[in-house]
Amino acid sequence: MKSPYVPRGTHMNDFSFSMPTQVVFGRGVTARTGAELASRGYAHALVVYGQGSVVRTGTLGRVLASLDAAGVAHTEFGGARPNPSLAHARDGIALAREAAADVVLAVGGGSAIDTAKGIALGVPYEGDVWDLYTHAAAPVADGKLPVACVLTIPAAGSEASASSVLTDDETLLKKGLSTELNRPVVALMDPELTFTLPAYQTAAGVTDICAHILERFFSTSGPVPVTDELDCGLIRSLLDMAPRAIEDPEDYDARANIMWAGTLAHNDLAGCGRGVNGGRAGGWESHGMEHELSAHDPSIAHGAGLAVIMPAWMRYVWRSNPERFLTLGARAFDIEPVDVVEDCIDATPEEAVEDAVLAAIDELQAFFCSLGMPRTLGELGVTADDIPALLETLELNKGAEFGQLQRLTMDDARKIYESAL
Ligand code: NZQ
Ligand code: ZN
Repeated sequence: MKSPYVPRGTHMNDFSFSMPTQVVFGRGVTARTGAELASRGYAHALVVYGQGSVVRTGTLGRVLASLDAAGVAHTEFGGARPNPSLAHARDGIALAREAAADVVLAVGGGSAIDTAKGIALGVPYEGDVWDLYTHAAAPVADGKLPVACVLTIPAAGSEASASSVLTDDETLLKKGLSTELNRPVVALMDPELTFTLPAYQTAAGVTDICAHILERFFSTSGPVPVTDELDCGLIRSLLDMAPRAIEDPEDYDARANIMWAGTLAHNDLAGCGRGVNGGRAGGWESHGMEHELSAHDPSIAHGAGLAVIMPAWMRYVWRSNPERFLTLGARAFDIEPVDVVEDCIDATPEEAVEDAVLAAIDELQAFFCSLGMPRTLGELGVTADDIPALLETLELNKGAEFGQLQRLTMDDARKIYESAL
């Protein structure tokens, strides 16, 4: 007897998808940064970057030289930390106004790009930019600065996403702001810039990319074959490419495929037809629970937190929709439930499904761990004593109940955190 959870029908929901970001991809494209900005009429760039990797690798120097060559003036604003802070973005807003910048150019990863996005939206807003993240005020297009980026780490997908995530260190609230206004106008993506990534950051990035695909894949909607195949195909490519990039950091094709996967994972293509009421697909449960970890301890890489939380969430909720998990298992990992009758197995079909689902989750977690990601919260320095504080900010961010595949209360969230200790 075959699985009792054969997908029934297909369910293409309505959606609106736009990819306004111009992607300029390939070896050496960093040198075209100035020309790309000048061709759009920008005259003064606020150049936002992180804590020094782009200085050490020479990327910043090449970007500034290209701006000079194209006649684009620039003001530097470094120091965005991983899991960037609201206070730093506020400083950037003041500097952008003072310099009369007409474009914000991020050189780095999600942290630099999200800081740039916060600055770009904050410049025309008279109040505190945090109002936009708390939804006390709506972002406005009028006077908003355009954002451009030179990507140095495939991970957050911010180079083409509608999101920006900042942390208020005073309240420990990490909040995302999603608006189409956030999409960068141009993303320069040179895979060679990622050769210098430490293995841990490569792995955290790949994990985040997988999570962006899977948060969308695990929506409540039924099968959407085109999107499902796209999602599982991206995961399969990452399963192939990530070990190659860890083994040989200068494997161009591995780096290039991971970089492109990172963009496709989070520009919303990976969720088309799976969103409810035209919204973004999925309930983003793992991201919600991870953001509390990296807000309380910014030294936790977002991807590393996800490597622990996502499998724990999956094991907690899979019974709400076994079909989805079986599809992932079959399409990404070649894992299918055994046919208990045909193969004369002493088990029920339901037990065979459970075995297949849990095997698929184990495979996914084993993949993250094989790249060097942690398996437990303990490895991230998080203990049982920390959980009440995580739940407190989680509730402030998400409300008493959250999630889509299965609604989760704070008690459910506590159990998921505890299961990952
Ligand atoms: O700060 P520097 O010195 O530049 O070093 C960075 C940082 O330590 C380093 N790095 C980046 N490129 C490098 C490099 N080191 C050597 N060579 C290179 N080529 O890597 C570290 C991580 O960089 P970061 O920008 O923090 O990484 P990521 O892109 O993962 O961004 C993480 C942030 O993005 C948010 C996360 O929550 C977190 O705050 N997210 C943003 C999203 C969005 N805007 O759409 C969605 C995501 O789900 C995520 O929440
Ligand atoms: Zn993420």
